[in-house]
Amino acid sequence: MRPILKKVLFYTAEFYLPIHCFTCFLLCFMRKSSLLLNFSEKFFQKDQMINPTLKLLLNRRSAVAANMSEPGPTSEELQLILKAGIRVPDHGKLAPWRIKVLHKSGQQKLGKLFVEIHQKNNPDTNPTELEKEQIRPQRAPVLLVVASFLQTECKIPLSEQRLSGGAVCQNILTAAHSLGYVGQWLTEWPAYDPDVKQALGFGDQEEIIGFLYLGTAKEPPKPRKRANLEDVMELWE
Ligand SMILES: Cc1cc2nc3c(=O)[nH]c(=O)nc-3n(C[C@H](O)[C@H](O)[C@H](O)COP(=O)(O)O)c2cc1C
Repeated sequence: MRPILKKVLFYTAEFYLPIHCFTCFLLCFMRKSSLLLNFSEKFFQKDQMINPTLKLLLNRRSAVAANMSEPGPTSEELQLILKAGIRVPDHGKLAPWRIKVLHKSGQQKLGKLFVEIHQKNNPDTNPTELEKEQIRPQRAPVLLVVASFLQTECKIPLSEQRLSGGAVCQNILTAAHSLGYVGQWLTEWPAYDPDVKQALGFGDQEEIIGFLYLGTAKEPPKPRKRANLEDVMELWE
């Protein structure tokens, strides 16, 4: 081999290879430890395990309201959760949803109301049941009552307005989860009771679609069996 070629090969092996290996190692480490995410998120966007939005969606799950405790979202966090909540597809820009926010005092008041209505509807109830009704709206630090505000005098179908409300509920759960809280979307009997609806100040155009409980999980929620994508999806061509 010619001496000049030998020299080139020697320098390559001696200097550039270690530098190259070190750079590769550094990039892998930064990627794994998320250091790279801030400034080259787009570069790795296709990797669902690293894309934080997909990771959140693939891992979010509800916690049982009875297993929630303080702290709940702060008022600033709640503002953000609700802002994200109402940023949903909304055919005709109708904003066909209304939300009531209940902290402890509102929840206690609602608990008393549940007791009264339950007693009225079930005259032979017992103290255990009454206690359960009193506690029902007080299971988490924050309770949101979400209603569809249906506009009948327009061409947008009511079903679409209701679906938009469902998207609001889901966005709220996802936004709360993104801040480290847990949520649960319940309807139970109060969502369909006309006295509850009236007492909460909802009108004839409104329908309660969810009681959303938000707080901190006392223990991590157990995994839940999920539908198989293959069972619900097929290629149509
Ligand atoms: C509109 C609606 C109403 C619901 N109402 C109740 C309910 O009254 N009681 C209940 O145990 N779960 C109810 N759920 C189910 C829970 O919110 C939730 O789906 C379940 O705990 C699993 O949650 P995850 O799939 O988010 O983990 C309801 C769900 C939806 C979408």
